[in-house]
Amino acid sequence: METPSISQSLVLIFLVVIFSETAHSDGYHGFLRCLTLHSQNYSAISDVVYTPDNSSYLSTLQFSIRNLRFTSSTTPRPLVIITPVLESQVQAVVLCAKENGMQIRTRSGGHDYEGLSYTSQVPFVVIDLMNLSEITIDVDRRTAWVQAGATIDQLYYKISHKSRTLAFPAGACPTVGVGGHFSGGGYGSLLRKYGLAADNIIDARLIDVNGRVLDRKSMGKELLWAIRGGGGASFGVITARKLNLVFVPETVTVFSVDRILEQNAIELIYRWQYVAPSLPTDLLIAISINKVNSSKTGEKTISASFSSLFLGHVYRLLELLKQSFPELGVETEDCTEVTWIESAILTGGYPTGVSPEVLASRTPLTNIYFKAKSDYVREPIPKIGFQKLWKLFYEKEVDMVQMNFISYGGRMKEIPESAIPFPHRAGNLYKFHYIVYWNEPQKDASNINWIRRLYSYMAPYVSKFPRAAYINYIDLDLGMNNEGNTSYAKASIGD
Ligand SMILES: Cc1cc2nc3c(=O)[nH]c(=O)nc-3n(C[C@H](O)[C@H](O)[C@H](O)COP(=O)(O)OP(=O)(O)OC[C@H]3O[C@@H](n4cnc5c(N)ncnc54)[C@H](O)[C@@H]3O)c2cc1C
Ligand SMILES: *[C@@H]1O[C@H](CO)[C@@H](O)[C@H](O)[C@H]1NC(C)=O
Ligand SMILES: *[C@@H]1O[C@H](CO)[C@@H](O)[C@H](O)[C@H]1NC(C)=O
Ligand SMILES: *[C@@H]1O[C@H](CO)[C@@H](O)[C@H](O)[C@H]1NC(C)=O
Ligand SMILES: *[C@@H]1O[C@H](CO)[C@@H](O)[C@H](O)[C@H]1NC(C)=O
Ligand SMILES: *[C@@H]1O[C@H](CO)[C@@H](O)[C@H](O)[C@H]1NC(C)=O
Repeated sequence: METPSISQSLVLIFLVVIFSETAHSDGYHGFLRCLTLHSQNYSAISDVVYTPDNSSYLSTLQFSIRNLRFTSSTTPRPLVIITPVLESQVQAVVLCAKENGMQIRTRSGGHDYEGLSYTSQVPFVVIDLMNLSEITIDVDRRTAWVQAGATIDQLYYKISHKSRTLAFPAGACPTVGVGGHFSGGGYGSLLRKYGLAADNIIDARLIDVNGRVLDRKSMGKELLWAIRGGGGASFGVITARKLNLVFVPETVTVFSVDRILEQNAIELIYRWQYVAPSLPTDLLIAISINKVNSSKTGEKTISASFSSLFLGHVYRLLELLKQSFPELGVETEDCTEVTWIESAILTGGYPTGVSPEVLASRTPLTNIYFKAKSDYVREPIPKIGFQKLWKLFYEKEVDMVQMNFISYGGRMKEIPESAIPFPHRAGNLYKFHYIVYWNEPQKDASNINWIRRLYSYMAPYVSKFPRAAYINYIDLDLGMNNEGNTSYAKASIGD
């Protein structure tokens, strides 16, 4: 279960608090001295060490912050940032941090929903892996080695350079880092065909608490199991992973159609729940619900966007939809035949026709303030559940709200619950991702309050005992008791 994993990391944070109180007050200087000693090449390590005295400290810290909530001047900052270019430098940081009682935060793409890869309530250093991002593809064996600091789109780009029919089943957002993403599962449009990113990892390099580099052979079965879905930051610093690549046809088809309430959206959403999870695995249809202003009346309404990736040609897709989901009314004009990499560019939010080189960049399209949560749905939700939901959506205090429905079934249903730590398999129809975002810091409280109320509203309709969540959509509210404080007592393992 994921909730215990979150709780476990809270227990770890707690233990570190106790530990660092007894540590040397001189930890920071001792740490820097230690790095120098451990590093065989001082000039090389000093090039990748940033203290607040370095002019580029702040820009380096902010470069990979993907939730603006954690850019404020009151957000705790690291004493030191290290951007290793060699695995041995990561080993040195681990040993020196341990020796000097400092907490480590490991950052890959910086997409953590709660900023956990670059914030902490205790003195800490950040290992920022952005410069460990080498990717090597072996087309004949259909495998790849990817270093933990790469982004998923850098991986997709590299694969597409070598082959038009190989792919990897991971997320949609271009700048997500493989470091955190693969640690918690990692899903995208190929989920119903090939499962999660973590389902397709076959080897890894991990630096443990003693600074040793472990791989598949030396880490043993249990640790290899745990690091594929058990959550980032839990077991060591992963520096690289070996992946099994998957087959995709040269031509795939995408569509996206929007239906507002006045176009029968509720009926379609309701029906989707019965259709989407049992479609053939070559087809994934997801829904994204937004509050919009109707282009006709200017009045607010709800829009449901049905978007899809189909591993085949448009004529086959239309045949399939005619049988399974004719109500949606998808027509040839709604569909586009593209290569898999072009589909990744589109789902990444880039406009049509941009060159695949954009995928190699680490610069996001936008940066926002946000709070998000997730749920799993095991039984179709009655229409009334949606009808009443819009009242919350229409509240004035929120503007940009979104609810994503990601259908399961297919391969997700076949992989046993215990194959890797990610347990949400057979029995789940789909997953919800709720997100509210805003542009001004003074709106934090009202938006966060709103999404907590949305979460309460959804309780009767989603998984119970336990109410499950996706660890990659980490949500520290789940570690809070009713008084709103973090309850370590509740963090019993095996909940
Ligand atoms: C805009 C956006 C879109 C997203 N889209 C998707 C999606 O399509 N599918 C999906 O499944 N998820 C998605 N996510 C969630 C994403 O998978 C998680 O936020 C993931 O943890 C991000 O990984 P990261 O390396 O970018 O983040 P980071 O903030 O760098 O890391 C996240 C966590 O992992 C730890 N970690 C990072 N690197 C390592 C490492 N090398 N070794 C050990 N621990 C490490 C960090 O310490 C932290 O606890 C999205 C998130 C955002 C913000
Ligand atoms: C030490 O680092 C410098 C600068 O990065 C590099 O030019 C040099 O080759 C390195 N020497 C060794 C022995 O690794
Ligand atoms: C940060 O400053 C120190 C001290 O001046 C210097 O040795 C180091 O090279 C600087 N770091 C970077 C990344 O430039
Ligand atoms: C590290 O990565 C950043 C971002 O891609 C890049 O600007 C920088 O030049 C890299 N630094 C080194 C030492 O490779
Ligand atoms: C809809 O209109 C309202 C008021 O005219 C405006 O404040 C809001 O930003 C608009 N929302 C969207 C999503 O365009
Ligand atoms: C936090 O919650 C615990 C358990 O309910 C309670 O005993 C404790 O007093 C609370 N602490 C604070 C600071 O509110």
